[in-house]
Amino acid sequence: MKYYEQIQLSKQNEQHLYVQLFEAIKNFILEGLIVADEKLPPIRQLAEVLGVNNATVVKAYELLEKEGYIYKRIGSGTFVSPDIRSKMGSTAPDKFPLDEDLSLMNRGQIQIQEHMISFASATPTPDLFPVDDFQDLLNEILNRDKGNAFGYQESQGYYPLRESLVAYMKQYEINTKPENIQIISGAQQGIDVIAKAFVNPGDVVIVEKPTYTGAIATFKSRGAKIIDIEIYKDGMDIEKLETVIQKHKPKLIYMMPNFQNPTGYSYSDGKKHKILELAYQYDLQIVEDDYLSDLSFYNTENITLKSIDQHDQVIYIKSFSKIFMPGLRLGFLVLPEKTYHRILAAKHASDISTSGLIQRAFDLYLRKGIWKRHIHFMEHIYKERFEIMDLAIRKHILPYGVTYNPPLGGLSFWLCLNENFSTNQLYNIAAKKNILMVPGAVFFVGQKDSNCFRLSTAAVYPEQIEPGMIALSEAIREYIEKKESRKNSTSVYTPLL
Ligand SMILES: Cc1ncc(COP(=O)(O)O)c(C=O)c1O
Repeated sequence: MKYYEQIQLSKQNEQHLYVQLFEAIKNFILEGLIVADEKLPPIRQLAEVLGVNNATVVKAYELLEKEGYIYKRIGSGTFVSPDIRSKMGSTAPDKFPLDEDLSLMNRGQIQIQEHMISFASATPTPDLFPVDDFQDLLNEILNRDKGNAFGYQESQGYYPLRESLVAYMKQYEINTKPENIQIISGAQQGIDVIAKAFVNPGDVVIVEKPTYTGAIATFKSRGAKIIDIEIYKDGMDIEKLETVIQKHKPKLIYMMPNFQNPTGYSYSDGKKHKILELAYQYDLQIVEDDYLSDLSFYNTENITLKSIDQHDQVIYIKSFSKIFMPGLRLGFLVLPEKTYHRILAAKHASDISTSGLIQRAFDLYLRKGIWKRHIHFMEHIYKERFEIMDLAIRKHILPYGVTYNPPLGGLSFWLCLNENFSTNQLYNIAAKKNILMVPGAVFFVGQKDSNCFRLSTAAVYPEQIEPGMIALSEAIREYIEKKESRKNSTSVYTPLL
């Protein structure tokens, strides 16, 4: 499929078709899917593929050209501008994160060199994975189930695993039954199948501001109109949420009530109840992404929305990537009755079923209770890192006027510089000192820079944390000094004679 065949334009969308097309092509360029000097499809061809008038494409190309993303060569066609970096902020004195880095981050990835300390990755390091346990379990499954372990699995998921998950969910005070559980190949697929099942182009989806990059990408790919609502340290502003609900009648509200990614904030119990009341009052579907409530170190209010969801408004997504192993590609949904069929159809259309072998091994892992030992191990490891990180931030970073609301658990720390500062630029300075963090822009809808950034403790060892924070503090100092010196420098004009 050619990249432009993925573009979905909707007349229901409040934006003009040509603006939607402009945005789509601009994103392809910024994400590096079309590169410098690559030819864009001819106007008539693109109009035909997208089912729009030639004039729509002409206007979109005009806008792209005006903003410098593309250029025309008479008689040859339209091409991507070679100087894309300047489009990402021509007034910036320092270069922005390398295009590839930013583009990779927008797709949820990051390139790490061996000598770097990465506070960017939120993926646990492989030395933490319970490899030996899984080796034994896989052998046991192969002896027990033979070829059956490699057949197609039921799309809803291996029934015994769904039974084990029902028991596992009791610790979260979620009472459910195997029929309500849908096995998924990771939480990302969960978001994707929910979006496929419920969101059509132009539909409104509410998300937190900032939010998880993978969710933005998924909802965008469905042509959703994403409305983001600022998150504070105890959750979204409820009044604002209600106003947006009344005005836009969203299809879904996507949220992470515990240890939100990227801020690490958790909703107060009061706000959790209030959001459920709103969902009931306006008959809305909430998507609760619980990728991390297990790592609660100090939070006493870490109940899940699903555990207090009396009217079945919440689709609950559970990922095992942070607490077990991301490569399992395993997670599950707890579904409201009314959503079963749509979700099942979307999952089937996505990948038919999640690996039967992995489901069987994970089922044994739960049934034998081995997971409890591993969760305690992970809690211990992450809590130690969390405490060292919190102290190091206070000691080395906060003196530079950085603001920070300490989270009560999880893996993410969200830090903000003064409002007019750029963490894209800070990223470059820090990377030169071999420190990686994630500039905040990737967590916002349609934003190219931000004064905030995310640090994560998932992939750093305790002894790297303080030296890493010292180096980061030097990067912040350097950035602030450069900015100050630019502000103070005055230009001198002299006659050109
Ligand atoms: C909030 C959130 N949801 C979902 C995912 C994706 O998880 P999975 O690996 O289970 O697909 C991530 C991964 O980082 C995440 O941070």
